Amino acid sequence: MRIVAKNLSYSYSKGAKFQVDALNNVNLTIESGEFFGIIGRTGSGKSTFIQHLNALILAQSGELFVGEYDLLKQKRKDKAKFKELRRQVGMVFQYPEYQLFAETVFDDIAFGLKNFYPKLTSEEVSEKVKRAMQTVGLDYSIKDKSPFDLSGGQKRRVAIAGVIVSEPSVLVLDEPVSGLDPKGKAELWEMLHAYHDGGKRTIIVVSHDMNDVCEHCQRIAVFSKGEVVSCGTPKEVFSSSEIINAGLDVPTTCYLQDYLKENGIELSSDFTIDGFCNAILEKLNK
Ligand SMILES: Nc1ncnc2c1ncn2[C@@H]1O[C@H](COP(=O)(O)OP(=O)(O)OP(=O)(O)O)[C@@H](O)[C@H]1O
Ligand SMILES: [Mg+2]
Repeated sequence: MRIVAKNLSYSYSKGAKFQVDALNNVNLTIESGEFFGIIGRTGSGKSTFIQHLNALILAQSGELFVGEYDLLKQKRKDKAKFKELRRQVGMVFQYPEYQLFAETVFDDIAFGLKNFYPKLTSEEVSEKVKRAMQTVGLDYSIKDKSPFDLSGGQKRRVAIAGVIVSEPSVLVLDEPVSGLDPKGKAELWEMLHAYHDGGKRTIIVVSHDMNDVCEHCQRIAVFSKGEVVSCGTPKEVFSSSEIINAGLDVPTTCYLQDYLKENGIELSSDFTIDGFCNAILEKLNK
């Protein structure tokens, strides 16, 4: 599903004395099958934007297309349309493990699936839950445990499995790796790449970690004060001055590359660790 926002604006408490303008003329296109990053300082509008994508927040002005859905035209009464949109655009909120509620891991993961597909047989539900657990690296043998007895990392996997079990074609995640240890982070990124499956599905990730987005995302958008101030490959974005103007950091490899440049060694890398190391090796071999 292609996502196109044109001059999308949104204000909380619109018209009230305490109106907050959270999005101001956002222009952004995310192609079907991209692994896309959204970065920006706190309060820059990232969460407000992503919640538009499955109509959790109804668009107020401008244009917003998600696949064939014209989200400016959707009204609250269009419940059936929202249901299908929400199956197709899966949303994983920050710290999703706080939303676990069922008595067993199985029931928690199956909950959304049963809501989207009430006619599935119990065998079909079990099969899909099993597959989702496999994708997030959970052993099916824990299905009857209480999700509350699991580790923090496992709980997060259960919560993500509860979204991907319905096989959304667009998976949106708000800070998916925050609070995980380095191994947990690496495993979660790997899992997201597995779900992305080389571009069969779209992944949209909000992150505060510049190293992570540089390493994992094909393109990124920089939000600042409710606007998209830069958008492109990590190399393009982290080479631009907008990133500094938006008050953001750059990946460590950018600092290293700058440091080397000041000392007369000019490299051209894409700022990923591999790209950076290869550029150094190439230099040394010369
Ligand atoms: N429910 C709400 N009611 C009123 N104002 C809100 C609400 N949610 C967010 N805002 C305001 O809208 C603006 C954008 O907030 P948003 O949560 O989209 O930012 P963010 O980029 O996701 O920030 P963070 O990195 O801290 O999660 C901020 O000024 C915020 O205070
Ligand atoms: Mg946010």
